[in-house]
Amino acid sequence: MKETRPGPCQRKTSQPPLPYSYDQIADIYDEDMGRNNPGLDIAFYVQSSRRCRLPILELGCGTGRITLPLLESGAQVIGIDRSLPMLRVLQRKARQLLSDKEQRRLDLSQAEMTRFALQRAFSLILCSFSSITYLIEPGSRARFFERIRKHLDGDGEFIFDLFVPDPSIDALPDGHTIHDYSRTLPDGTRLERFRRLRKAILPGINEIERYYRFLDASGNFVRAMTTRDRIRCYEPDEAVRMVRKNGFEVLEVLPDFQPGEIQRETRTLCIRCRPS
Ligand SMILES: C[S@@+](CC[C@H](N)C(=O)[O-])C[C@H]1O[C@@H](n2cnc3c(N)ncnc32)[C@H](O)[C@@H]1O
Repeated sequence: MKETRPGPCQRKTSQPPLPYSYDQIADIYDEDMGRNNPGLDIAFYVQSSRRCRLPILELGCGTGRITLPLLESGAQVIGIDRSLPMLRVLQRKARQLLSDKEQRRLDLSQAEMTRFALQRAFSLILCSFSSITYLIEPGSRARFFERIRKHLDGDGEFIFDLFVPDPSIDALPDGHTIHDYSRTLPDGTRLERFRRLRKAILPGINEIERYYRFLDASGNFVRAMTTRDRIRCYEPDEAVRMVRKNGFEVLEVLPDFQPGEIQRETRTLCIRCRPS
């Protein structure tokens, strides 16, 4: 795995800096965010990979929730992620779960998805689980789409997804704390997660603070941690405009990974696009 210097800590004007959120949660990501995802995306991305030439480039591959099924289905994947701890978890899972042949089809690099430079072009580039929403500045999105354009074949496609704002969450008072879940981890540890949303701290940008509390099997406090992220939220039409503004043509919009109309219940928008 290729490593670069660790990414900078998130700097906040009003809050103390915290380590990068995914570095903090890498070891519990699969039981935390991974388990929260309904998983409709996995079959969709595997299916999409069957139509393209290999390898596939996956941006923000994380601990391999999509990467491993892609490899198991016969794909070759180049995965990049900013978080080295997330990539280490993916590497460990690949060793445990994949055959030698499947492992040889995986190539991982620690890199920013706004700055990567690979010496090849791809017919499919993916970015799953709303990872694009971490690019909160127009300049970072412009660099991201420019990098993708640079790395796509003539007829190559970029497919990504992002969350659709949830009206029931939007209706909560600003700064309201939600109890997300209490779960038992495979080693018996009890994990509780709380989330506080600060809405529109900048136009279109929310700040999410997640508080994790770890308890032992008897319910005694073991440790706690807090993560903080800023997310650029998009209504569906705004997401389409953002893609076009960055010089890409929208080929298809799939609510919750299925062809059809966007409904009030739609939680994720998947967009297939290519350079215009
Ligand atoms: C929600 S997780 C998704 C992980 C995986 N794709 C999945 O579906 O489970 C977001 C991932 O994007 C990565 N990420 C966020 N911003 C990034 C950036 N600017 N460059 C590279 N990776 C980034 C994070 O480190 C994290 O692993």
